[in-house]
Amino acid sequence: MKKFIEGIPKAELHLHIEGTFEPELMFRIAKRNDIKLNYKNIKDLKKAYNFANLQEFLDIYYMGCNVLLHEVDFYDLTWAYLLKAKEQNILHTEIMFDPQTHTERGISFDTVINGIHRALTQAETKLGVTSKLIMSILRHLPEQAAFVTLEQAAPFKEWIDVIGLDSSEIGHPPSKFKRVFQKAKEEGYLIVAHAGEEGPPDYVTEALEVLHVNRIDHGNRSLEDNDVVSDLIERKMALTICPLSNLKLKVVSDLKVHPLKEMLLKGLFVTINSDDPAYFGGYLNENYIEIQKALNLSKQDIVQIATNSFKASFLNEIEKNAMLLKLKEFTDV
Ligand code: ADE
Ligand code: ZN
Repeated sequence: MKKFIEGIPKAELHLHIEGTFEPELMFRIAKRNDIKLNYKNIKDLKKAYNFANLQEFLDIYYMGCNVLLHEVDFYDLTWAYLLKAKEQNILHTEIMFDPQTHTERGISFDTVINGIHRALTQAETKLGVTSKLIMSILRHLPEQAAFVTLEQAAPFKEWIDVIGLDSSEIGHPPSKFKRVFQKAKEEGYLIVAHAGEEGPPDYVTEALEVLHVNRIDHGNRSLEDNDVVSDLIERKMALTICPLSNLKLKVVSDLKVHPLKEMLLKGLFVTINSDDPAYFGGYLNENYIEIQKALNLSKQDIVQIATNSFKASFLNEIEKNAMLLKLKEFTDV
């Protein structure tokens, strides 16, 4: 089963590029930029990767970002992940970045996006890994700041496909960003939002009805409300489930009680993703492998989830079919 999972062609749809920042690269870039980290060494830093909740993780995640200063830093970060994606048979990846994490520290928007974009285009030509770029809005900041970020993105509209919503969920419902997402939609962007990771099912409903999302990130807590589940099924709304993230951030107490199987059985449109793999102990294949073991998922379940990953992507129908064909060729042998 492990070999099958490692080999199966798949797409990743929920991945924060800042969450792929491995301690080794972090220390290397810190040294290059003459920045002192609050941790003596890699071992010391890794010891801090013990989170009671989402906020404890975010505090460390934002701290790690402080060493990213130059275009080449964003390029190196993104390229390291894309090499990993290639190794894991990820044909297509939809990557989030948080510009406000960097612009709030005085880094220019173009420094960030130029570095990420250069790595993404290189991956397409050199690795054959395709991508979409999702610009995520930090929900702990005011809506006005999101409007500024949307404006900064305008010259790079060709490079950005989707606007997302992430960071501290509780107390920052999707409706706080109603107007900015309405503007983003009018400008032609697709929309995603983290909802129901720690926040209540009502936040999932708001993401659907107020932000008009094209996909829900996480959505675990939807299961607490049957009406929300029926609504998601009726809309064929994809959920990007992140098992190891859920375990590390205590959204679930054990992978054995993770709701993924129940979601599949109910007919929800679920995918598996890695979220912030450098912090949560595994990339995409490790997420598939660990949840398969914990829930005793069948090969058929794995094929279903990998199929969903392409169907729930923002590729066009021709591109989706080409990747689904590669998946079929793999499963047919
Ligand atoms: N930013 C990075 N990872 C996140 C997560 N899992 N939830 C919310 N915001 C995030
Ligand atoms: Zn996330």
